[in-house]
Amino acid sequence: MVERSLVLIKPDAVERNLIGKILTIYEDNDLKIVDMKLTKVSRELAEAHYIEHKGRDYYENLIAYITRSAVVAVVLEGEDAIAQVRRLNGKTNPAEAEEGTVRRLYGLATNQNSVHASDSPENAQREIGIWFPGK
Ligand code: PPS
Repeated sequence: MVERSLVLIKPDAVERNLIGKILTIYEDNDLKIVDMKLTKVSRELAEAHYIEHKGRDYYENLIAYITRSAVVAVVLEGEDAIAQVRRLNGKTNPAEAEEGTVRRLYGLATNQNSVHASDSPENAQREIGIWFPGK
């Protein structure tokens, strides 16, 4: 089924000039960029995005990280896009991510893991609505 997924290229990756290299991985795997923007994230937007994680011990760390400098928000479209993007991104901890995945190639640590991707169709729709209101 053709799906859409919301991807964030996070501050650690934008700071190290990795936007192009990361987008190439998605495009080379038949995912189409259908919307994209470079933006600095407000605390309000970060809290809306990570609402499911509120109260976790790493929550404040996560909010500080995503708001520290610009991110690239991308809507990717393709066959089984949600699972496909998560496969390409690799496991949350870059040290455990498979060879060739974005996090294995570029992630620094669990708390600086370079990319986010939607984990379900419901969250994809919710996240796209947050990052690209009205789309
Ligand atoms: S995931 O990708 O949603 O399955 O990952 P999950 O393990 O559930 O983690 C949810 C998000 O929290 C981030 N995370 C952390 N940040 C900082 N420190 C620690 N210890 C930590 N553990 C998890 C993780 O990267 C997920 O953020 P996103 O942006 O979705 O990758």
